[in-house]
This record gives sequence, C-alpha cells and structure tokens, in this order.
Amino acid sequence: MKRIVIVAALVAMGAAAYAAPPAGGPPPMPPYMLRPLAPEGDRLKPGRDGKTVFEAQCGYCHLVGGMGTNLLTKQQMMAGNPPEKGLLSNRDDLTRDYVKAVVRMGKGAMPQQTKVDLTDAELDAVAAYLGKAG
Ligand code: HEC
Repeated sequence: MKRIVIVAALVAMGAAAYAAPPAGGPPPMPPYMLRPLAPEGDRLKPGRDGKTVFEAQCGYCHLVGGMGTNLLTKQQMMAGNPPEKGLLSNRDDLTRDYVKAVVRMGKGAMPQQTKVDLTDAELDAVAAYLGKAG
C-alpha cells in the first residue's frame, strides 16, 4: 500500500512538471533556424534573388547563430576585425570569384555545395550579393 502511494505521488509530481509550461514560453528561435524558403521560379534561370537564396541555402550556417558565423566570427576577431564581420553579409572584402570557389570546393569546416544544393544561376546571384569587392 505504502509503495502504491509513493508511486502515485511520483507520477503526480512528474505530470505536474510536464504540465507546467516554462516561464515566459519557449526561448525565441535564433535567426539561423528561421531562414526563409527558397524563392519561387525556375532555379536554372538567371536573375535569382541572391539575398533570399543565400538566406535559404547558406543561412543555416551563415545567419546569426549558425556554425559558419560562429567560426568566422572567431577568425575575424583573431585578425583584429569587429565581430559583426563574422556575418558574410557584412563583409566588403569578398569577391564574386572567391565566393564561387569556396561554395563549389568547400573550405576548412565548410562542406562543398553541389549544383543540387545551389544551381549555377543561384550561385551567380549569391556571389553578386556577397561579392562586394567585385
Ligand atoms: C554546413 C555549414 C555551411 C554551409 C551550408 C555553408 N557554409 Fe560557408 N562556411 C562555413 C564554415 C564553417 C566556414 C569557415 C570555414 C573555415 O575557415 O574552416 C565557411 C566559410 C565560408 C566562406 C569563406 C569566408 C572567408 O572568410 O574566407 C564563404 C565565402 C562562404 N562560407 C560562403 C558560403 C555560401 C555562399 C554558402 C551557401 C551557398 C555557404 N557558405 C554555405 C559553413 C557553411
């Protein structure tokens, strides 16, 4: 009888713990988890929206909180640059050709992105968006 009471008490405590919502609701999702969907339309045609393609295809690593951003922020700070430069969209020293080379071949901890991940037309648009150094 005593054992049943103890088990019932533990079950009730467990149920209460699960039933109570966390104070203030769940924590907000970081930007890299909230990236947009890829733009509509023909992925093989030129004129894709580079910013949206970047956020959709690269954002899970390169938006705020992403592992690419975290790693690049460390690299930039080691080089004496402000932490904001860890976001590729804040960089002004990237060329289009460099962006394309890194995407197709990978670099260090970044895996290469194939033409299935990102078509050549999409890569052109992303390189134009990020390649502010020409
Ligand atoms: C799986 C995560 C991941 C994805 C997806 C990803 N990257 Fe990266 N990217 C990284 C990491 C990590 C680094 C830093 C690599 C290192 O130095 O070891 C990086 C580095 C880069 C760099 C080099 C920056 C520099 O300072 O040299 C460029 C450019 C880049 N990424 C562009 C892109 C683009 C454009 C896309 C989308 C097509 C993309 N990446 C997708 C993780 C990712």
